Amino acid sequence: DAGKSGYDHYMLKEIHEQPTAIRKCLRERVNELEGSVGVEELSELECDGPVQFVACGTSYHAALYGARLLRERGIRAQCFLASEYDVGMVPVSSDTLVVGVTQSGETADTMSALRAANRSGATTLALTNVVGSSAARECDHVMYIRAGPEIGVAATKTFASQQVALAMLSSVLSEESSMEFVERLRDLPDQIQQVLDGSQARGVAEAYEDSDAYFFIGRGYNAPVALEGALKMKEITYKHAEGFAAGELKHGPLALVTEKTPVFAMLTGSDISKTLGNVKEVEARSAPVVAVTDSPDTVSRYVDHVLEVPSAGSRFTPILANIQLQLVSYWVANRMGRSIDKPRNLAKSVTVE
Ligand code: G6P
Repeated sequence: DAGKSGYDHYMLKEIHEQPTAIRKCLRERVNELEGSVGVEELSELECDGPVQFVACGTSYHAALYGARLLRERGIRAQCFLASEYDVGMVPVSSDTLVVGVTQSGETADTMSALRAANRSGATTLALTNVVGSSAARECDHVMYIRAGPEIGVAATKTFASQQVALAMLSSVLSEESSMEFVERLRDLPDQIQQVLDGSQARGVAEAYEDSDAYFFIGRGYNAPVALEGALKMKEITYKHAEGFAAGELKHGPLALVTEKTPVFAMLTGSDISKTLGNVKEVEARSAPVVAVTDSPDTVSRYVDHVLEVPSAGSRFTPILANIQLQLVSYWVANRMGRSIDKPRNLAKSVTVE
């Protein structure tokens, strides 16, 4: 218990460690005077070809986020579940960069995908938290996310650190940066602290702890956050939860929406009008809606609860939105008396395929 620093669970402690984790991840990698990003470990990395991400679980959600960051900068990037990655089915050549996103650096599916990529002659990069891990040793290059040890089985601070590391990777690979980009990264730790200090997530969790199921929707950079929000809820509460791109709601999941299924909608950035349209669709089915938003004035009249986050631009506000979702899941699981740090049937690192 000493290791929990007064928190009831490692998970809650690790959620609160996120400002520090991000500061460590950024240290000596961003230059505020020049508006530049430089990652020492990647000084030898050259990449002109396409990028393929391979990952599992929460790391896969970070990879989806990272692939979008790269595509926004004009880099061809695809994302694969490591267990579905098949070098025979996707073109892999010597100019392909395969990036394994893996907190532990030991996940068997991810290791197997990275080994296959290496055999095919691709350049490989491990984005990992653990120095000297199998992924770090297997790959040609390694970038550490520097989140510090994570004990809770459900990944929290490592997800945020992966997102920030991927933002820096997108800048390194595209050789593009700006004062604004670096300042936004620099501001993230304080903004996360603001979310932690002012969060109403506990009250929202108490309002909906008896719900049958939970849905999470978001588009663009918020789509992976919706997936992650649902995964966290499943992992630690054992309740039914689904996350999907907001536009997909009408293509099936809407049939499951009732007055007993709260919908968490990520409404951040400049383009929230389409997702607000989806919110109206679920409200017409009497579902309660919780908005995670940086625009409370615009959205509050359409929703039942607001979980506010500061504005960090379209790329980074979703990182803040995810912190609110971590807290909601934590407090639902806490109210239910679940084994939060060691959920049933799950392991921190899965070393079988
Ligand atoms: C396990 C953990 C998840 C994690 C996944 C990938 O399933 O329970 O929390 O996201 O492995 O782990 P990795 O170490 O590769 O990021």
